[in-house]
Amino acid sequence: MRHGLVAAVIATAVLGAGSAASAQEFPTKPVTIVVPFAAGGPTDTVTRLVAQSMTGTLGQQVIVENVGGAGGTLGAARVAKADPDGYTLLLHHIGQATSATLYRKLSYDPATDFMPIGIVADVPMTVVARKDFPAADMKALIEQAKAEGDVITYANAGIGSASHLCGMLLMQALDVPLTTVAYKGTAPAMNDLLGGQVDLMCDQTTNTTSQIKGGTIKVYAVTTPERLPSLPDVPTTVESGLPDVQVGVWHGLYAPAGTDAAVVARLEEALQAAVTDPNVTQRLAELGATPATAETATPAALEQLVTSEIARWRPVIEAAGQYAD
Ligand code: MLT
Repeated sequence: MRHGLVAAVIATAVLGAGSAASAQEFPTKPVTIVVPFAAGGPTDTVTRLVAQSMTGTLGQQVIVENVGGAGGTLGAARVAKADPDGYTLLLHHIGQATSATLYRKLSYDPATDFMPIGIVADVPMTVVARKDFPAADMKALIEQAKAEGDVITYANAGIGSASHLCGMLLMQALDVPLTTVAYKGTAPAMNDLLGGQVDLMCDQTTNTTSQIKGGTIKVYAVTTPERLPSLPDVPTTVESGLPDVQVGVWHGLYAPAGTDAAVVARLEEALQAAVTDPNVTQRLAELGATPATAETATPAALEQLVTSEIARWRPVIEAAGQYAD
């Protein structure tokens, strides 16, 4: 018994020392950031900008893996259950908070199964339509929606996605039940909007700005209190008579709960370098997005945001009575 106890104490000390050493050397192999939506969409766009910058800072390849489905909860579940070694991360948006209410049987807890690393960026949304959709402006869209109702189709990236949240606010404001078409991300949804297979969508400017400027889709409003420098001619939803349709899509970077503090600190350092990297900030500005700052790209800032957003959206979702399960 005594020898066994001594051996256990030595083993613990060695393992402890080993994990401390590995934390100090982190990373010694490529790091994966899971994007819980399809490639080419807004979440993917933000992530690839950040991953490219973090690769330089960490000295190891930071690769992006798209795990779409169920409004982002499949990808989030993958990371919640991953080894807490810092090599599997999640970059998710406001859906991390809304899914806590929308999904009543989640296999993980958004509030406790993750170690926040920091806020990444805030991205506005735009109410858009296929190019030949009849309504010329928001006033006409409101009239057409009230006249046609669920004949009009609305694309989103599944319950829990930002496009779902904005659509919920839009349908509540219009008091019209549009027919929802769910995709694994708003990149495939955009393909159908461009092809005319779906009528409307509310999507992030990181995915719509180039299409709007190219005239390949119609835009009615931005969901921010003020107009965007990147889309100065697009009115806000407030100007358009829909003041309740306001949503900004914040994004955060997470590790699994239990990740070593030294590893989290290293990842936080790389994230802070990314959100202040001119290659990242310039591209995000072109796309209408606002990067986090060194003060908000921190675990404490993200933890506080997740907690407050879960509390903020819970009554809104419960009032809508829309749940995923
Ligand atoms: C969303 O609607 O949540 C996102 O736009 C999904 C995506 O990044 O594809």
